[in-house]
Order: sequence, then structure tokens, then C-alpha cells
Amino acid sequence: MNGLLGWLRRRGSSAEPPAAAVTTPAADPAPAAFVPVARIEELPPGGRKLVQVGGHAVLVLNIGGALYAVPNACPHRNWPLSEATERAGVLKCVRHGWEFDVASGRGTWPPFGYRLRHLPLRVLGDQVEVAWVDPEVELAH
Ligand code: FES
Repeated sequence: MNGLLGWLRRRGSSAEPPAAAVTTPAADPAPAAFVPVARIEELPPGGRKLVQVGGHAVLVLNIGGALYAVPNACPHRNWPLSEATERAGVLKCVRHGWEFDVASGRGTWPPFGYRLRHLPLRVLGDQVEVAWVDPEVELAH
């Protein structure tokens, strides 16, 4: 017998494994709850819309024909990104000038640290839907 139980049995102990060895399955993140936020024609290339999803402010953007949803809070100090300027797919926060490539989420200035966090977005028919996901259970993208 292998593992901790085998080791306990070899020692002659019938005790349960110590609590530290007991693993509990991580709680599954709640299924993403998509909320309709816009009609597709409201978000032409270069367009943006500030919406609410589950009580959170979310900025939906169309960058070169691709839609993205990000929390409406600058990763630096939470300034509303709805006020940011956008050029060539890069959002520039008006508060301190930090810049973020929307498609990758990567910070481009300063070139370290913070990233934009993409939220799940889907288009059903002509409806754009977004789901809020807390950072600790962010879905891979
Ligand atoms: S709050 Fe956006 S750059 Fe500082």
C-alpha cells in the first residue's frame, strides 16, 4: 500500500490521516451568469459602452472588430477606465497615464506588473452578454 495510509498501516496505526493530509475539493466557481448588456450594433469598431453586471461597473469595448469586457477600474488605482483614451488598441488611463493593451491585457506603460482582467463575453444573436467573475475565480482566457 502506498501513500500516507500505507505509511500509517505500516506503522501499526489505524488512525485517520492527519487533518493536514485530508484534501477537500476546491469549491467550483459559480457558473458564469451572463447578462445582456448591449446590442451588437451599439458596439461598432472603436465603440465602447459602460454597463452594469451583477452590481459591478464593466466597460465593453470593440477593438478592431473584437469585443472585450473589462472591469471599469484601472488596475493601478481603480480610476474609471471609461474615461481612458484609446489608440491602436491601447487604453491610456487619464489619472496617471498607465497604458494597457486591451487584447492581451498586458500593461504597456509602465512595462511591468498590472494587467487588465478580461471578463467572459459572448454574443448570442445580436445580443452582447457579459458575466462578472471575481478575480480569485477568474476563468482562463
Ligand atoms: S489609476 Fe489609472 S494610471 Fe493610476
